[in-house]
Amino acid sequence: SDASALAADLLDWYDRNARSMPWRVPPGDRKAGIRPDPYRVWLSEVMLQQTTVAAVRDYFRRFTDRWPTVADLAAAEDAAVMGEWAGLGYYARARNLLACARAVVRDHGGVFPATREGLLTLPGIGPYTASAIAAIAHDEAATVVDGNVERVMSRLWLVTDPLPASKPELTRLAAILTPATRPGDYAQAVMDLGATICTPRNPACGICPWRDPCRARAEGVQATLPRKAEK
Ligand code: ADE
Repeated sequence: SDASALAADLLDWYDRNARSMPWRVPPGDRKAGIRPDPYRVWLSEVMLQQTTVAAVRDYFRRFTDRWPTVADLAAAEDAAVMGEWAGLGYYARARNLLACARAVVRDHGGVFPATREGLLTLPGIGPYTASAIAAIAHDEAATVVDGNVERVMSRLWLVTDPLPASKPELTRLAAILTPATRPGDYAQAVMDLGATICTPRNPACGICPWRDPCRARAEGVQATLPRKAEK
């Protein structure tokens, strides 16, 4: 099937199976056109780097209760933020978080830039985070590629070359599939698919919305992908 049919099938699946998360807009509000707050999308994406959704939930609630806006966070004491971060690990992320919040206030009047390009100018925001915020908060057709997306693309398209050399190819394939309509929901749908169905071990191919087009499943090699170069 073509790219737009594949994206449509995944979005149908997402409408029925999206995981509820404190930074997501509920389905009814989404249909009414309500967008998530870029500050909350940014904070959740930074927390989710190297940390699971289950671990992030309560940290996200505590942060947003204490600092509801980026201006509140920018005005916080460094030690208060490091204290709330304690337990999440990778403490450079918390320092980058504060530097970014302060840059948004100092250079952008407390409003996150609305495009991927603008977001990339902020400290600590790289290609992944810029694409995620642009897609999820603003429905820009930016392609979001994390480990889940790499795994899903390698299986769907039977990419047997090992990572990391195959990364540009996986990114190219992910971009081809990114739809012009609902790219933010689409980005989160691929991540949910990778987290709940197209898992590293024992993928649940029988209930996957992409079971028929999946080339790895047709060959019976889905559990061996993505391959990784030996270290
Ligand atoms: N992992 C990182 N960002 C995510 C998101 N927005 N939804 C689900 N899983 C994620």
